[in-house]
Amino acid sequence: MRVIIEKNADAVAVRAACFVAELIRRKPACVLGLPTGGTPLGLYRQLIRLHREEGLDFSQVTTFNLDEYVGLEATHPQSYRYFMQENLFRHVNLDPAKTHVPDGLSLDFESSCEKYEQMIRAAGGIDLQVLGIGSDGHIAFNEPGSSLGSRTRVKSLTGETIRDNARFFGSEDQVPRLAITMGVATILDSRRCLLLATGPGKASAVRSAIEGPVTAQVTASALQLHRDVIAVLDEDAGGWLTRRECYAEFERAQRLLETGQWRELGIGKQ
Ligand code: PGA
Repeated sequence: MRVIIEKNADAVAVRAACFVAELIRRKPACVLGLPTGGTPLGLYRQLIRLHREEGLDFSQVTTFNLDEYVGLEATHPQSYRYFMQENLFRHVNLDPAKTHVPDGLSLDFESSCEKYEQMIRAAGGIDLQVLGIGSDGHIAFNEPGSSLGSRTRVKSLTGETIRDNARFFGSEDQVPRLAITMGVATILDSRRCLLLATGPGKASAVRSAIEGPVTAQVTASALQLHRDVIAVLDEDAGGWLTRRECYAEFERAQRLLETGQWRELGIGKQ
């Protein structure tokens, strides 16, 4: 796992946008996996800026969102479809037919979840899955105890997540109790994962996910099993990591490699 620690949340957004934009430029018909929440807002603002100022072209991009609350209409201000519409989709030239969010209204959970998995497969799989992390270490709505082999399904939210998300609804009792979410194994099928975390409230979860044991109690820790994960953190969220020096050293080497500074890497000195 690459661990990149940036100064603050704005720098995390800029760095994350570079990875997304690089993919879109290299593979215009790519498939993006997208999260909602407070964390990706800066990334979405950067992508909108790149679209407006640099012509970043989303016309062939397909998107799949990680999750959706059960029972909320797409027009409900707290539905994730609405969130995506307001914070990204309507500001860039994405084809609406290529944007997918799990169907929170179908009560035939089994078939709507299977259909979502099929649509991801039919699109060729997710090239880049962007992820936030919950303060309890969850990814998407894969709460502690979720099987690491899980696929898209309906889940009940834990008290901690309901409390965390109550800020968006006004009170805890308005937060839906169920969500449809991609499973941990669905996420691990993505070709690359980009994990974003900002703020001191994420420091403990980030440490468990990156440096702790792989466990279903911290579903983000399953990312340690993935071959291509990049974690972009701000200093607060990365503050509890014990191997920060090593991560910084690796990033220095990565930069030298990308810019062809072979001698600085000790190549060709013999
Ligand atoms: P947040 O949520 O970005 O609003 O902190 C992250 C998550 O729960 O996955």
